[in-house]
Amino acid sequence: MNVLILGSGGREHAFAWKIAQSNKLTKLFVAPGNAGTQQLATNLNVNPSDFSKLKKAVLENKIHLVVVGPEDPLVQGVVDFFEADSELNKVLIVGPHKVSAALEGSKDFAKTFMFKHHVPTAAYKSFTKNTFSEACAFLETLNAPYVLKADGLAAGKGVLIINHIQEAKEALSEMFEGKFGGAGTTVVIEEFLKGIEVSVFVLTDGNNYCILPEAKDYKRIGESDTGLNTGGMGAVSPVPFADKTFMAKVEERIVKPTINGLKADNLPYKGFVFIGLMNVSGEPYVIEYNVRMGDPETEVVLPRIENDLLEILVATAKGELKPDAVQIKPDAACTVVAVSGGYPESYDKNKEISGLNTPNSSIVFHAGTLEKEGNVLSNGGRVLAVSSLANTAKEALEKSYNTLSNIHFDGIYYRKDIGKDLF
Ligand code: AMP
Ligand code: GLY
Repeated sequence: MNVLILGSGGREHAFAWKIAQSNKLTKLFVAPGNAGTQQLATNLNVNPSDFSKLKKAVLENKIHLVVVGPEDPLVQGVVDFFEADSELNKVLIVGPHKVSAALEGSKDFAKTFMFKHHVPTAAYKSFTKNTFSEACAFLETLNAPYVLKADGLAAGKGVLIINHIQEAKEALSEMFEGKFGGAGTTVVIEEFLKGIEVSVFVLTDGNNYCILPEAKDYKRIGESDTGLNTGGMGAVSPVPFADKTFMAKVEERIVKPTINGLKADNLPYKGFVFIGLMNVSGEPYVIEYNVRMGDPETEVVLPRIENDLLEILVATAKGELKPDAVQIKPDAACTVVAVSGGYPESYDKNKEISGLNTPNSSIVFHAGTLEKEGNVLSNGGRVLAVSSLANTAKEALEKSYNTLSNIHFDGIYYRKDIGKDLF
C-alpha cells in the first residue's frame, strides 16, 4: 500500500522510519518532508494545509493511507475534506474530524469537555474582552502563579504563567488587544497545578483504544529547565514515576472517560490523542489535549513499539483497532534535540551539517533540514532529534550524546541534562 505522511519535522521522520519497516508498504511519501525523510521516502512539495494541492498529490500517487502529523490541517478539517470528496473518500486517513480537533484548537472547548465528562483538570473560567472586569475579579480569587491561556492555536506560545497579579491583569489585557491574534479573543484562566508533567499517548478508532508508551518532554531551552519555552528539547520513555499504579489511575480517570466522552458527544475520532498530564502528588490532572503525536515525544514513542505500525494505523483508520494491537518493547528510549543557536528566538538557517554519516548506535531523526547539492543544511530551529534505545535510560542517553559529539553545524546547541532529573 502507498502511504503519505503530512508534515516536515522529527515526528514525521520518525513516522516514516517506522512505517518504512512494514512489509505492507509499497511506496512512502512525505509532504513536505525534510532531508531525513528524503532518504526513506519521496518528498512532495505540498503544504499540508493546501487541501486542493493535497488532493492532487493523493490521486496522482495513488495513496491508500494518509497519516497527519501536525495539528493545523486537522483543526482546518483535512479529515472532513477527504470524507466529503467523492474521489478521496475511499482513502484511509489517520486523524480526528474538525469538530474533534477542537480539543486542541480551542482550550475553552477542551475544558468544557473535561468538566462534562469528569476528567480531572484544573479549575478554570473563560473570558472575552467584554468580561475583562469579571476576569480580573476571578484572578483575585486565585493564588499565584496565574495561568492564562489563549483559547486558540498560538504555535505553543499561548500559555502565560505569571507570578504577580498586576502583571497577570496587564497580560490579559494585551491578549484581548491581539497579542496572539484571534487565538486570544477568548482567554482561559485556570488554577496553577504544582507537580511533574508527563505525556500520555492514546491511539483510538473512536471505539477501542491502545495506550502507547508515555514520555517526558523537556520544554525549556536551558539546562535545569530554565529560559524560554521551546517545542521540546528532548524526551525520555518510559517515565519512572508513571508506574503501574499511576498509569492505572490515568486509564480509569482520564483515558476511559475521554474515549467515552468522544462517543457520547458524537466527536468522530480515528487518530492519536496526546494527553498532557500533571502528576500532582501521585494524582493525574489533564493540562491539555493535543489531537496528534508530540514532537519530540514521537521520536521516543515509536522506537519503543515492537510491531508493525502500518498495520495498526490501517486498523485505526478502518475502525478496526484491537485493544491489544500495540506491543511495547521494555527498552528505554531517549531523544536529544540539536537546535540552531538563538532558537527559540531568531536563528540562522542553511548551515551545513557534518558528521551525519559517522557510524553511530542512534537513530538520527531530522527535524529541520534540507538537502542541497548533496549536502544536508539546517532549515529550522530544531534541526535534529537524536534518539537511542538501550536497556536503561542512562545508557540510551550516553548513546545519543556520543552520536551528537560527532555532529556539527555552526551554532549547534543541545541540552546536556536530558533525563538527568529522573535518575
Ligand atoms: P500547554 O500549551 O497547555 O501545554 O501549556 C504549556 C505549559 O504550561 C505546560 O506544558 C505546563 O508546563 C504549563 N501549564 C499549563 N497549564 C498549567 C496549569 N494549570 N498549572 C501549571 N502549569 C501549567
Ligand atoms: N512536545 C510538545 C508538543 O508536541 O506539543
